Amino acid sequence: MSAVLVTCKLPSSVLAKLRERADVDLYAGEAAIPADELRARASGKQAIVCLVTDAIDRSVLDAAPDLKIVANVAVGYNNIDAAYARSKGVVVTNTPDVLIDSVADFTWALILAITRRLSEGERLVRRGAWKGWALDFMLGTELKGKQLGLVGLGRIARAVAARAPAFGVHVAYVSRSAPGDGGPGSKNVLATAESMSLDRLLNTSDVVSLHVPLTPETRHLIDKKAIARMKRSAYLINTARGPVVDEAALAWALQQHLLAGAALDVYENEPAVHPDLLGLENVLLVPHLASGTAETRTAMADLAIDNVIAVLGGRAPLTPVP
Ligand code: DGY
Repeated sequence: MSAVLVTCKLPSSVLAKLRERADVDLYAGEAAIPADELRARASGKQAIVCLVTDAIDRSVLDAAPDLKIVANVAVGYNNIDAAYARSKGVVVTNTPDVLIDSVADFTWALILAITRRLSEGERLVRRGAWKGWALDFMLGTELKGKQLGLVGLGRIARAVAARAPAFGVHVAYVSRSAPGDGGPGSKNVLATAESMSLDRLLNTSDVVSLHVPLTPETRHLIDKKAIARMKRSAYLINTARGPVVDEAALAWALQQHLLAGAALDVYENEPAVHPDLLGLENVLLVPHLASGTAETRTAMADLAIDNVIAVLGGRAPLTPVP
């Protein structure tokens, strides 16, 4: 039987499926597996099932000469040196598609929460500071008639766009791919959406939502200069990857009220959050939860295991990374 390292607890039905076909070495710690232990336990394995918190770098790949597949339980795979894996003939897979609706719903949850000041209001009630209803108290911003600017136009961004008509929001997007590339129905979703340059999108959008992978080109895409292009009344939403935003620049801009607010699910150095953000009322901070429903996380784990079973069985992976 093949040997598989699984770096985290998986739903029991999913793990059972893998155990029928492979010897599973399960790391069951509460926090991410330490780097030394990851390297040591990778040795002799044919497959690794891992999370975004596990750095699958050259040292891990070199420690596992028999490795055939690294299956990330995530759509993003910036934690894996995919180019080096490819050069060693190791397949890398991710879990696209199964988390689209969960992340798109969550993006709207963040948009609604920050524009209507939900977390700020909740904090106020909990600390006993609410003095009662008043006509001009804690006013938010309406979405109807406003522009949502999507940076990136992958499948999650398109699902976010598909929900926009429910809120009367006009969608703009910046994308490197053609609008028709998103599979069946994607042209309809974008029928009334407007393609524009990043500068123009930042300049004209009321809400800017990030949907790009983390690459050398997108690291700090939203920096001081980019933020300066945004409206002072605009909101920034990040469910993509933390380092796409320069967190220090964002904290400074929010302190100066150069933006109305930001809602962040991801951070530059997770689980750390820039200390200047923590004291601000105009930022909503949640702990990387966008795909976090029981249904979606089970589907992600299941897809990762199906990829492992396919590759160890000599078949093509279901969802290799591009
Ligand atoms: C992903 O899938 O890339 C998420 O960020 C982890 O849930």
